Amino acid sequence: MKNDIERILFTEEQLDKRIAELGEVISRDYAGKKVVAVGILKGAVVFFADVMRKITIPIKFDFMAVSSYGRGTKSTGTVKILKDVDTDIAGKHVIIVEDIIDSGLTLKYLKENFEHRKAASVKLCALLDKPEGRRTDITGDYIGFNVPNEFIVGYGLDYAGKYRNLPYIGVLKKEVYEK
Ligand code: IMP
Ligand code: MG
Repeated sequence: MKNDIERILFTEEQLDKRIAELGEVISRDYAGKKVVAVGILKGAVVFFADVMRKITIPIKFDFMAVSSYGRGTKSTGTVKILKDVDTDIAGKHVIIVEDIIDSGLTLKYLKENFEHRKAASVKLCALLDKPEGRRTDITGDYIGFNVPNEFIVGYGLDYAGKYRNLPYIGVLKKEVYEK
């Protein structure tokens, strides 16, 4: 896998440090509230597991699976729910946990979806933000790092299902997907 990476953007140490900071802020902001963290499968799994262990208040876990990409590197703009949460969302404070915000189409759809289910509040937490890719007015509430407009893999993020288990975040070599 290493040979397919053009350069490393964030090392394991940098990720650990930033994720601990996010956990601290979330713990402070949600103290005394009924909180459900909704991880978006599969990309958010690695980040979800790490950030949750930095949160010091009670928090429920749930997961959703959506598809918007298929095998390519650009969003199709259509979001489909493949697996829904099983928590009753009404009256709960929801934190959607994603790997990356790119076009923002996925999160815009999910945010509105939870608002329709009468969540007390809906906030977005993403490890990475790619502001140049944005095609909606969505902004993240808890963001780990900004990344350039390139294709990023590792630490949960994939290309065609691969590279999710890399322990760091890197830029994928163009030649890997421009074939
Ligand atoms: P959005 O709807 O365009 O914001 O895309 C969100 C989803 O697209 C993320 O949850 C990722 O699964 C995927 N995605 C967007 N950019 C990248 C990238 O650079 N590398 C890997 N996956 C990406
Ligand atoms: Mg993906």
